[in-house]
Amino acid sequence: MSEMAAMDPEGIDGVRMTWNVWPRTKVEASKCVIPLAASIAPLRPHQDIPTLPYAPLRCKCSAVLNPCASVDYTGKLWICPFCFNRSHFPPHYSMISETNLPGELYPHYTTVQYAIPSSPLQPQSFDGSPPNSHPPVFMFVLDTCMIEEELGFAKSALKQAVGLLPENALVGFVSYGTQVQVHELGFSELSKVYVFRGSKEISKEQVMEQLGLAVSGRRAAGAPGLQKGAVQNGFPGSHSGVTRFLLPASECEYTLDSVLDELQTDQWPVAPGNRQSRCTGVALSVAAGLLGACLPGTGARIVALVGGPCTEGPGTIVSKDMSDPVRSHKDLDKDAAPFFKKAVKFYDGLAKQLVSQGHVLDLFASALDQVGIAEMKVAVERTGGLVVLSESFGHSVFKDSFRRVFEDGEQSLGLCFNGTLEIICSKDIKIQGILGPCTSLEQKGPAVSDTIIGEGGTTAWKMCGIDKSTCLTVLFDLSTSDKTSTSGTVNPQLYLQFRTSYQNPDGQTMLRVTTVTRRWIDSALSSEDLLQGFDQETAAVVMARITSYKMETEDGFDATRWLDRSLIRVCSKFGDYRKDDPASFTLNPSLSLFPQFMFNLRRSQFVQVFNNSPDETAYFRMLLNRENISNAAVMIQPSLISYSFNSLPQPALLDVASIAADKILLLDSYFSIVIFHGMTIAQWRNMGYHNEPEYQAFKQLLQAPQDDAQMIIRERFPVPRLVVCDQHGSQARFLLAKLNPSATYSNAHEMAAGSDVIFTDDVSLQVFIEHLQKLAVQS
Ligand SMILES: *[C@@H]1O[C@H](CO)[C@@H](O)[C@H](O)[C@H]1NC(C)=O
Ligand SMILES: *[C@@H]1O[C@H](CO)[C@@H](O)[C@H](O)[C@H]1NC(C)=O
Ligand SMILES: *[C@@H]1O[C@H](CO)[C@@H](O)[C@H](O)[C@H]1NC(C)=O
Ligand SMILES: [Zn+2]
Repeated sequence: MSEMAAMDPEGIDGVRMTWNVWPRTKVEASKCVIPLAASIAPLRPHQDIPTLPYAPLRCKCSAVLNPCASVDYTGKLWICPFCFNRSHFPPHYSMISETNLPGELYPHYTTVQYAIPSSPLQPQSFDGSPPNSHPPVFMFVLDTCMIEEELGFAKSALKQAVGLLPENALVGFVSYGTQVQVHELGFSELSKVYVFRGSKEISKEQVMEQLGLAVSGRRAAGAPGLQKGAVQNGFPGSHSGVTRFLLPASECEYTLDSVLDELQTDQWPVAPGNRQSRCTGVALSVAAGLLGACLPGTGARIVALVGGPCTEGPGTIVSKDMSDPVRSHKDLDKDAAPFFKKAVKFYDGLAKQLVSQGHVLDLFASALDQVGIAEMKVAVERTGGLVVLSESFGHSVFKDSFRRVFEDGEQSLGLCFNGTLEIICSKDIKIQGILGPCTSLEQKGPAVSDTIIGEGGTTAWKMCGIDKSTCLTVLFDLSTSDKTSTSGTVNPQLYLQFRTSYQNPDGQTMLRVTTVTRRWIDSALSSEDLLQGFDQETAAVVMARITSYKMETEDGFDATRWLDRSLIRVCSKFGDYRKDDPASFTLNPSLSLFPQFMFNLRRSQFVQVFNNSPDETAYFRMLLNRENISNAAVMIQPSLISYSFNSLPQPALLDVASIAADKILLLDSYFSIVIFHGMTIAQWRNMGYHNEPEYQAFKQLLQAPQDDAQMIIRERFPVPRLVVCDQHGSQARFLLAKLNPSATYSNAHEMAAGSDVIFTDDVSLQVFIEHLQKLAVQS
């Protein structure tokens, strides 16, 4: 790997693959154990990606012209690398030559963006916004079954958010508790509210009817008065509901502020020993119905702030009786969670509705108890929504994350709408599906595999919400046909093209096209060559994603066993050893880190789910699936940095042996960041040495990990929890839980003085590797 590639392994394309050279046949691919997969970040920003102000040229097979095409400059035609058809260049490409290339043919522009010009048929908007553009839409849904203080935190976060929105962004507001209240923001004299019962499922038609949108909706197209109002909002021909329930932020900020000021916690009486009656499911249905009636097909998001479990109506996850606890993993395992399947089915339906409308569900859950993320996951993930879990609306994990959603400029998440991803591949490559935030569009074709994983059975996917860090995992398969026999000459290269159309934050329609090529290889000849193209970090993350998927979808799936077997198979195929001689076992550097990744994956929150609630597990998995490879790798195997006097900060082994009295450790496990002070450091700090002028070096030593932690926190969404603790303090468990238990009771006497002992039955990395070597070399 070149130095550049090491610094930015995703390069201009935002693509990383488990294998960068591919075996030729299905049989050989299955012998490689780790599946053929690509992790793609469709909208990852990169300074070198050009934006072309014209529409792309396409082949008959739909492939977009790209640098892998061969071009005949005299004949003015190009040959498509996917189907080998020839296409003539249109007249406006007549000036093309070897020295006069359009952007999409420059060899290093394997990723380009097209800013699609608006069609002449599309009405222009009158407010000076770019043509063919829509303002973003935010429908806020606020739970009011909370204590006064929590509701106060949530309200002020909402007010701040609306203040940060662009002036033309449309805003709507729904609050709920036992019932749902839709606030008519366009009615500024006094606040007007429509109330919906929380106990019964409600259809989109009923929502429209009750809000008085059903009839006028049908008339709107022909009624000049209504249409005028709608056009002012940038939605030609859309609904009168836009002027009543969804208003530009600049116009409704004052009204919304006063609505929020007057909003009380849910006043419905609660019987002793009961939970509050909270109808989250109906509230989200109403919000979805309202958006569907007003703005179908345009980028809109439902931003839900939820403070506890749904106990009323569809989507209920637990009974009102406090003596019934919210379902645990054990309950789910034993099929003893009576509400679970029904609630998931409800949210599955909501997901379908939202996807068909093109709308996103963002979930901000803040509560000490579970709120039902496990049930709602399907609706968030299929629509490409954001999710943040914290313990309080006053906690920085919520507050800072929420603010970032609405922030502009460098800190912006780059929220885009109406994404569609299409993939085409060289013949013989099949797509099994995608793990990550998207929905299958069921677009069939020869590249669709019979084996389905995740969102499959398609070559196109919808991403109602997509942002610059969204990442997806595409799983591939090879057709069973023998390639050499069907065609005489065999192309040594394979090609994949990823095309993502979307609406950017300015409302402009864009198309990003990434075309990548990799080498086929006859693996029977050389597993050495195959291994050179192995990306162990990507492989570890893909294995984690597949494991999580199987744990969710396959009854009785034994994750640890499956991972162990896969690892043993990889090591016996690719390791160097003499049969039945464990001591002779070695691994090529391109594979040598993989066993440790698997060791940490086995111990991680993704596999050891019983240490967490189903909500936490669902949350961790959604982020595992949507984050880039480096972030996902940190979730599996945290990074540890050690700070000490007289040396620069250094990466440290993820092992209890790294703990020392005179060191500070910084652990990044993605969801939390831990600053851990060794005993001596903590004592000196408690004695205030860092305040004395002669101990400036100590002051700097204390400050360095704080600065580095802040740098990570600034970059990351959701904002991680920061834990600052001392050796032997109660919070130290956040570090200890992630470290390899090299020092246990049995060998504690061998450990260096000052290191900690972990009380656990887990095997240590060393024991794990010893077993692995023994099993891998077995004949
Ligand atoms: C040209 O494209 C068509 C449609 O995609 C395909 O059926 C045909 O096989 C292609 N021709 C060649 C020479 O590959
Ligand atoms: C959304 O995307 C689809 C598919 O790319 C496109 O046909 C449609 O016009 C887009 N809708 C809007 C409002 O941009
Ligand atoms: C992964 O995402 C983080 C932001 O969440 C970013 O800082 C980092 O550069 C990304 N890594 C790659 C390789 O794109
Ligand atoms: Zn083609």
